[in-house]
Amino acid sequence: MKRIGMLTSGGDCQGLNAALRGVAKALYEEFGKEVELYGIHDGYRGLIEGDYQKMQPENFSGILTHGGTILGTSRQPFKLMRVIGDNKVDKVEAMKATYAKMKLDALVILGGNGTHKTANLLSQEGLNVVTLPKTIDNDLWGTDVTFGFQSAIDIAAYVLDCIHTTATSHGRVFIVELMGHKAGWLTLHAGIAGGADIILIPEIPYRLDSILSTLNKRGRQGKEFSILAVAEGALSLEESKLSKKEFKQARANMAEPSVAYRLANEIGEKTGQEIRVAVPGHFQRGGSPCAYDRVLSTRFGTEAARLIKEKKFGQMVALQNGKMVDVPLSEVAGKLKTVPKDSEIIRSARDLGICMGD
Ligand code: F6P
Repeated sequence: MKRIGMLTSGGDCQGLNAALRGVAKALYEEFGKEVELYGIHDGYRGLIEGDYQKMQPENFSGILTHGGTILGTSRQPFKLMRVIGDNKVDKVEAMKATYAKMKLDALVILGGNGTHKTANLLSQEGLNVVTLPKTIDNDLWGTDVTFGFQSAIDIAAYVLDCIHTTATSHGRVFIVELMGHKAGWLTLHAGIAGGADIILIPEIPYRLDSILSTLNKRGRQGKEFSILAVAEGALSLEESKLSKKEFKQARANMAEPSVAYRLANEIGEKTGQEIRVAVPGHFQRGGSPCAYDRVLSTRFGTEAARLIKEKKFGQMVALQNGKMVDVPLSEVAGKLKTVPKDSEIIRSARDLGICMGD
């Protein structure tokens, strides 16, 4: 009998259920009644507290198109994993104890950057771990694309489409703030798909002058409206020169709730125009996965099942150059995949006349 545990951790996204289904169906197909699957509730919290349930094949039916995660999720910061809190629980030892008590042969973990640091730690502690790369941010090192990313792009691009019609009617400048604190993949792709005039991402610090001159140029061309796609982690050139601590302090002291609102005030002051801000927020992570993500999540899921069959642990399944591969967790953990400033897609945006803020 094989006993496999599964958990979803960190921010949710579209395609988690499709991926769980992919793992489960492939394992049931391979091992039949010789496999038992266990769903661990709310990510690492369930593993720490021993909160789980035995799953049945029917639990994985009808969930391909469902957003969210049937297992629940939570954020358990990696930096606190080794810290013993007031409840005196050693979280890492507790997770190992649950794994042993459940008599697991392997643990399947679906998550993003933080999740992978803990997955690597558990692997180093001797647990048989296989992971799947999920996040709308697409910032996981080792895979060309994560699941959730394309679905979030579709939603963000739809928001930009809708904003376009109202911005055009009123001749207004709109700032659409999109998710992504450290990486600008989502804003860049959605911005191009949604025809944004200015795209600001964390990788390319912006200058207000550059934004104003693009707006002026558009004005001279008779275009009264403009759309800015701004990542929530976008920062000015001045801010990029601050130390991490100074930056945090400056942001904490900022009068506006986010960089998009600050820019709206600054642009409004300089141009005398009415600026509007739209923040789709968690809409970007919700709802049904797009067809691309359903396929990608399923492929990641069946690949994870293959690794379990081959007893190849300590790996993340990944997509590289269109092919399913696996990458050691030790190589993935702690590395961020940001947008290279000299990438072809940035060049394409610039060739189009999109202002990248610099
Ligand atoms: O990591 C995915 C993500 O959606 C980021 O894009 C965003 O900054 C963050 O999660 C939001 O986190 P929370 O759901 O905890 O507010």
